[in-house]
Amino acid sequence: MSKLIVANWKMYLSPKDSVELFGAVAKKSKTVICSSFIALNQLSALAKKSGIGLGAQDCFWDNRGAYTGEVSPLDLKDLGCEYVIVGHSERRNYFKETDKMVGKKVKAALVAGLTPILCVGENESERKKGKASARVEEQLEYALDGLGKKLRAEQWIIIAYEPVWAIGTGNACDPETAVKMHQMIKEKIAKLISVKNVRVLYGGSVDDKNIASYLKNTEIDGALVGGASTKKDVFMSLLAVAAKF
Ligand code: 13P
Repeated sequence: MSKLIVANWKMYLSPKDSVELFGAVAKKSKTVICSSFIALNQLSALAKKSGIGLGAQDCFWDNRGAYTGEVSPLDLKDLGCEYVIVGHSERRNYFKETDKMVGKKVKAALVAGLTPILCVGENESERKKGKASARVEEQLEYALDGLGKKLRAEQWIIIAYEPVWAIGTGNACDPETAVKMHQMIKEKIAKLISVKNVRVLYGGSVDDKNIASYLKNTEIDGALVGGASTKKDVFMSLLAVAAKF
């Protein structure tokens, strides 16, 4: 399986900067860019031409209704998105998204025909207490439970293992630990859903210098990259390394 690089641009770039960087990202590997909501419309036309996948960073769990400020998965699909990040730790921490809410979003995304990029990962204290695997298993159970009937055979699910303590800290998870977590995640998923199209990505302080140490492992199907994907030179060099795998 070729490796997948997903860029999470978070709230780093303006729509103007997003269009500029998107245009510069040559198709070095199978790449997906998740921009801010308000840049998606402009990026959609560029995405069609370039073959780069377009994704949002969140969606709501319903398609229509009285939900002030929320974004419908159906509208993201209509706009040309193929992917949506759900359950990012920044949404769980700052906006108090619960495992249950994340589960509803995963299902809504799949029903709308989007590929969910489900983020899971333990925080620092959970890791210190030896509870990293248990926490990630719990997140997977909530997010994927009862999904069987919602899935079509050709649909994909992407899981991003993003230990919270490694996000934006420069303290990337060592590849051996990441591999162990990816193995556990793949075993757990096989018990929860029957779908074959699953990728597990690593995320947390990935850059052009350390990307190879993750991608060289068969258990790691790609990376979800935050800060490093917003800097043109670093991202281009990261994509050039990824293209070798
Ligand atoms: P950084 O790559 O900036 O650590 O962010 C990772 C992340 O949160 C991607 O979703």
